Amino acid sequence: MSELRFALIGCGRIAKNHLGPLTEIQGAKLVAVCDLISERAEGYAQKYNVPAYTNYHTMLKKENIEVICILTPSGIHPQHTIDVINRYKKHIVVEKPMALAWDDLAKMKSVADSNDVKIFPVYQNRYNKAVQKVRDDLLSGALGKPVLGTVRLRWCRPQKYYDRDPWRGTWAMDGGALTNQGIHYIDLLQYMLGDIESVTARAATQLVDVEVEDTFVATLKFKNGALGVIEVTTAARPDDFEASISVLAEKGTAILTGIASNQLSTYTLDPQNANNYSEDFPDAYGFGHWDFFRDVLADLQDKKPHPISFEEGTRAIRLLNALYRSAEDNREVFLSEGVASHKLGKPDDKLAKLYITEAE
Ligand SMILES: NC(=O)c1ccc[n+]([C@@H]2O[C@H](COP(=O)([O-])OP(=O)(O)OC[C@H]3O[C@@H](n4cnc5c(N)ncnc54)[C@H](O)[C@@H]3O)[C@@H](O)[C@H]2O)c1
Repeated sequence: MSELRFALIGCGRIAKNHLGPLTEIQGAKLVAVCDLISERAEGYAQKYNVPAYTNYHTMLKKENIEVICILTPSGIHPQHTIDVINRYKKHIVVEKPMALAWDDLAKMKSVADSNDVKIFPVYQNRYNKAVQKVRDDLLSGALGKPVLGTVRLRWCRPQKYYDRDPWRGTWAMDGGALTNQGIHYIDLLQYMLGDIESVTARAATQLVDVEVEDTFVATLKFKNGALGVIEVTTAARPDDFEASISVLAEKGTAILTGIASNQLSTYTLDPQNANNYSEDFPDAYGFGHWDFFRDVLADLQDKKPHPISFEEGTRAIRLLNALYRSAEDNREVFLSEGVASHKLGKPDDKLAKLYITEAE
C-alpha cells in the first residue's frame, strides 16, 4: 500500500510529537514542514531531510500532500483548518483544542463534509494504558455504578511562560489553565464516566498577569447520576506536580496519577496488576500521538473509523464552554442549553493577523 503523505503547519513545542510518529510509523511519510519562523522549520527540515516553508500556501501548491497537521496557536485552528480544506481539500489533523469558540466547530465540520475530507482532533491521553483499563472496566460493569470522578491538575506556569508568545494567556487564542492544560483531563473524565448534565464553576487569576484564569474549580453532575469535581491550576509553585484523575465506583476505586494520568497507582479491582497499566512518560505530552497516528492511517487507508471522531472531539469543547459560562454567569449551567462562553475564542483581529498567512 502507498504511504500517506503528511506535512506540518507549526513547528513549535508540540511538533516533535508529530514528527516522531510521522517518521517512524510504517505507512506514514513526512513530506514538508512549515513555520512562520524560518529557523523552526529549517531545524526540522534538516533533521528529517524534507523541505522547509514559511508560507503554507506555497508548500501546499508545490508539494504532494494528503494530510496537514495544524500545530498553530489554538484560537487560529479554525481559520487554518477551513482555509486549507477550502483551497486545497486536504485531510486535517488538528491539535487540541480543535477550536475555542463553540460556533467554529459547525463551520469546520460543514467545510470538511462538503469537501469530503476528515478532521482528526488530537486527544492523545485517551491512549494511556491506565485510561483504557479503567474505561473498559466501567463500560463492562466490572467497576459497578460510577459514584465520583475528579480531576486534579497542579502545574506551574510562571509569567515567563505566558510572555513567551503573544497568543499565550489570551481569550482569543489560548484560553486559561482549564483550556490549555486542563482540556485533556476534562476530556478523559467524560471519556471514562460519560456525558455531563450540568456544572457549577469558579475561576480566578492569582499569580500571573494575564487576562485568562490560572485557577479553575468546578462541580459536575453526570447524566448517570455520578458527581464530579474539577481542580485545575497552573499556579502550583515551584514545579509541576500532578495531573490526576480519581474514579470511585460501587465495586472499587481507580486513581490515575503521574504527570499525565499515566500511572494506575491505585486499582482495588486488581491491585497486583495495576503496575501493568502504568507507563513512564518523559513529559506531559506522553506517547499517545503514535497510536493516534496509527488510527489516522487505519481510517484513511483501511476505512476503519478513527476512535476519536470529529464529534467525539467536540465533547470537551462543549464542556469547556459550559464551565466558563457557569463561572462567568455565577450559576449552574446545563450542557443541554448549548451556551458558549462570553470570552473563550472571542475574535481579536490584531492577534489573529499575526498567524494568518496570505497566499504569495
Ligand atoms: N496535545 C498536547 O498535549 C499539546 C501539547 C502542547 C501544545 N498543544 C497544542 O498545540 C498547539 C501549538 O502549541 P505549541 O506549544 O507547539 O505552540 P508554539 O507557540 O510553540 O508553536 C506554534 C507554532 O506555530 C507557528 N505558526 C503560527 N501561525 C503559523 C502559520 N500561519 N504558518 C506557519 N506556522 C505558524 C508559530 O510560529 C509557532 O512556531 C496549541 O494549540 C496547543 O494547545 C498540544
